[in-house]
Amino acid sequence: MCGIFGVIGSREVSSLIIDGLRKLEYRGYDSAGLATIQNLNKNQFGELLIRKSQGKLINLSNLIKEKPIQGHLGIGHTRWATHGKPNEKNAHPHIDFTGQIAVVQNGIIENHRDLSKRLKLKGIKFNSETDTEIIPHLLGLEIKNLLDKGLLTNGQTLLSAVQNVLSLLEGTYSIGVIWAKAPDALVVARRQAPLVIGCGEGEYFCASDSTALVGFTRTVLPLEDHEVALLTPLGIELYDENGNRQYREPSLLRGTELFADKKNYRHFMLKEIYEQPETAQLWIDRYMPSGVPAENLVALPISKSSIEKIERIQILACGTSRHAAMVGAYLLEQFAGVPTNVFFASEFRYSPPPLSPNTLTIGVSQSGETADTLAALRMEKQRRDAINDPDFSFHQLGITNRLDSSLARELDHVIDIESGIEIGVAATKTFLGQMLSFYGLTILFASHKHKRSTQEILDFSNELRMVPKQLLDIIKKHDALSKEIARLFVETKDVIFLGRGINYPIALEGALKLKEISYIHAQGYPAGELKHGPIALLDKHVPVISIAIPGVVYEKVISNSQEAKARDARLIGVAPHGPESEMFDELFSIPKVSEWISPLLTVIPLQLFSYHIASHKGLDVDQPRNLAKSVTVE
Ligand code: F6R
Repeated sequence: MCGIFGVIGSREVSSLIIDGLRKLEYRGYDSAGLATIQNLNKNQFGELLIRKSQGKLINLSNLIKEKPIQGHLGIGHTRWATHGKPNEKNAHPHIDFTGQIAVVQNGIIENHRDLSKRLKLKGIKFNSETDTEIIPHLLGLEIKNLLDKGLLTNGQTLLSAVQNVLSLLEGTYSIGVIWAKAPDALVVARRQAPLVIGCGEGEYFCASDSTALVGFTRTVLPLEDHEVALLTPLGIELYDENGNRQYREPSLLRGTELFADKKNYRHFMLKEIYEQPETAQLWIDRYMPSGVPAENLVALPISKSSIEKIERIQILACGTSRHAAMVGAYLLEQFAGVPTNVFFASEFRYSPPPLSPNTLTIGVSQSGETADTLAALRMEKQRRDAINDPDFSFHQLGITNRLDSSLARELDHVIDIESGIEIGVAATKTFLGQMLSFYGLTILFASHKHKRSTQEILDFSNELRMVPKQLLDIIKKHDALSKEIARLFVETKDVIFLGRGINYPIALEGALKLKEISYIHAQGYPAGELKHGPIALLDKHVPVISIAIPGVVYEKVISNSQEAKARDARLIGVAPHGPESEMFDELFSIPKVSEWISPLLTVIPLQLFSYHIASHKGLDVDQPRNLAKSVTVE
C-alpha cells in the first residue's frame, strides 16, 4: 500500500527519498512522487518543488535526472490507488491552493466528501480525484487563520495547523507535511496507519515502514496512534492528540534481517520459497529446542494457567494469513480438542459472534499492519473490556513477522515468526512460519489440557522436527518439475484446487497464489463439494490440482479426483508415490508423512507451480498488479 518517506537535514534529499521509496516498493504501488523545499529565496522562504510520475519508481527517478530538484527537506510517496485512477494527477504529494504546502498520506480520509464540499463552497479548486487533497487545502486555510491571529511564520505554526486540521479528519491514515515558509520543519502524524521516525546524525526521517530506514539509521521511534511530531534538523518534538508533549526513548532496529537482498535469484518470491527450510529450522530451534522435558516442549508466550482456563479460540486474519489460521483451527480442534473458529477479519468487525467466555483471540498478520485485522482486534478488546467480567476478559495473542508492527505493539502477547523480511507480495515463507506457530500452540494446548498422551505429543513434535529436511528435498525436486509443466498452463483460464480436512486450506492457498501472481482464475474447494456445483465447469481446458494425503479422507479425495478425470480434466496430484498416484497426469510427490504434518509440505509445490507460470508469462512476480504487501486501508 502507499508508502511515505521523508527527510530533513543538511544533505540534498531527492536521491535519499528515491532510495527510501525504493525500499517501500515491495508494499505495492502504481505511481510515485516527491516534493522538496528548495533553498531560501530572497524573502527567506523556500520554494516548493514537486515531481510526480505514473507507474514504477524508475519513471520518477528518470524524471528527476531530467529535471533535478534540490532541497534539504522533502517528502516522497508511492501511491496505491484508492480514490481516483493511478495517474500523475492523483499521485502524491498534493499541494494547497497557495502552492506552498505539500502533503503525502497513507490511508483513507473517510469524510473527505463533506470536507471537499465545504472547501469548494469557499472557492477552492481541486486538482485531483483523491481524498488526500483536502488536507493541504485545510492546512492552507488554517495557517492563514493562525497567521492572522499573530502566530509566526515558522515550524511551530505548521505544527499547530496540522494539530487543528487533524481534529476535522475521520479515517485511518498517516501523513507527512512540509511548508515552503518553514524550510526547517517536517510535520508527521499517525492515526492507525503506520509511521516510524528515524533518527540520524543531524537529520531525521519518517517512513511507513522501518525497512525503508535501513542504510540511513538504525535508531527508530515508531509513532503511536494519534501522535503528531515536528521534526527539525535539531530534533523531534512529539505530542499526543491533546497536544501534550511526549518523551520516549528511540529503539534500535535489530540484526540484519531487514536487508532485502535478492542474491542470485530471479525474483524475491523464488528466493523466499527457497528460504523455507531455513525458516522452519530457525522456528524449531527457537521455539522447540531439543533436550527439554516432554511437558515443556514448546516455548511460546502463553502460560500454562492461561491455556488451562481457555475454553474456546477465535482467530482473526485476512488472505493467506487466514489460510494459515484455518490449518491452525483444524489442528487445535482435531488434535488438541479446543473449539476454534476462524473469521475473515473484515467480516468480524461488522458482524462478530455473541461473546463467549474464556476465549482466546488470536490475530494473524505477517505485516502486522493489516487494517481489517487490527480493527477487528481493537473492536474485540473494546467490547470485552466494556462488560467488565473476568470470564469475558480479552485473552490475546498475535502471530506476526514484524515485531515493530502495530499488531505487535498493541497486543500483550506475540509470537514472532522470525521468517526474515519477506519482499514478494505473495506470502510464502511467512505462511509457513504462521502455520508452524499453530503447530506449536497445538502441542501446548494438547499437552496442558491432557487431550493427547505424552507419546502422541512426542510423535507429533518429532515429525515436526523432520520438516526442514523434507522441505529442502521437496523444493529441490519440484522446482524443476513445476518449471517444466508450468509451460503447459500458460494459456489456461481456470484451475480448480481440491483438498479436504487439514489440506482444504492448502487448496485455498494454492488457488490464491495462482490468482495473485499469474492472474489465472482459480478456485479452491473441499473435494467433497465438487459434485455440488463446480463439476459443471470441468472439461479438458480446466485442470484440477488435487491434494491427496493418506489419512482420514484419503480414499474420498482419490474418488473425487477420479470424478474430475472422468470429465477429461487434466489431473495434477500432490500426493505420495503409490498405486493410486498412477491416475494423475502429473505428480508432485510428497514424502509419506502423517496427515497432521502434511500442509507444511503440500503447499510448497503449489507455490512453485504458481511462481513458474507467472514467471513464464513474464509477469511482475514480486509486485503483482493491484496488490500490496501491507494492506493498511479497509
Ligand atoms: C497473499 C497475501 C495476502 C495477505 C493478506 C493479509 O499472498 O499475502 O492475502 O495474506 O493481505 O496480510 P497480512 O498477513 O499482512 O495481514
